[in-house]
Amino acid sequence: MSYKNIEVKPVSGALGAEIEGVDLGAELDNETFDDIHQAFLDHQVIFFRNQKLTPEQHATFGRRFGSLNIHPYVKGMADHPEAMEIIKEAHEKVNFGGGWHSDMSFQEEPALGSILYALEVPAFGGDTLFASQHRAYESLSDGMKEMLDGMIAIHTAEKEYGQKGFSAQNRSSMDIDRAGDDVPKHEHPVVRTHPETGRKALYINPAFTMHFKNMTRRESRPLLQFLFDHCTQEQFTCRFRWSAGAVAFWDNRSVQHFALNDYQGHRRHMRRVTVNGDRPH
Ligand code: SIN
Repeated sequence: MSYKNIEVKPVSGALGAEIEGVDLGAELDNETFDDIHQAFLDHQVIFFRNQKLTPEQHATFGRRFGSLNIHPYVKGMADHPEAMEIIKEAHEKVNFGGGWHSDMSFQEEPALGSILYALEVPAFGGDTLFASQHRAYESLSDGMKEMLDGMIAIHTAEKEYGQKGFSAQNRSSMDIDRAGDDVPKHEHPVVRTHPETGRKALYINPAFTMHFKNMTRRESRPLLQFLFDHCTQEQFTCRFRWSAGAVAFWDNRSVQHFALNDYQGHRRHMRRVTVNGDRPH
């Protein structure tokens, strides 16, 4: 792929590229924006270093891709509700996003992408892993693809944000609400087609996918567990080592991610804006 105004350096064989030559806080001309958009579609997650973003500049960049999500359970900043502070203090044991997931898959119209900006990073650890769900789908046998193609799965935030939810109970530095008793459930295809590229991707994740439609959780478990294990294999992944001022922008329609929790005793402070997407098909 050739780009006019940016340099794009892939970081692994499956997905991910670092982009040089861009100041995301500045007003981006259309040509540079088109390059970034194309790199995002080509590589599924793109990284930038040495950025300086106010919450307003961060949101302005996000809005070039669509409207911004207000998280239903995690409170945003007081004057920027669309910007979410993701903080783990040195004394805390549990981190946010510490398991494979696709952001907001528990909503009817899940997120297009998430833009995460690092304000303070630990001296070691705290990397984020990403896994290409295009690669995961494409590597399946024809028989498995055929079986999965028409299947529907049920997604809900219950396990994370429900009354006994993990996130709601385990984090003190972030303002997280619990969902009411009746946590909404939404149906999504197990294999979705990327609305911009037409490429197919697996669309299930262990945080929010509960079971297949018209099947019990017990009946769904063996196949779901196979898919959870399959879709995050090493050959589908890349790993990003954060530095202060770095930005990662991932495509939730085709990527799962996992924030590693291997920096006990150190503080990590990130800020995220999330771009709304459409209903998976
Ligand atoms: C997230 O899941 O949005 C958090 C990712 C991270 O902190 O690396």
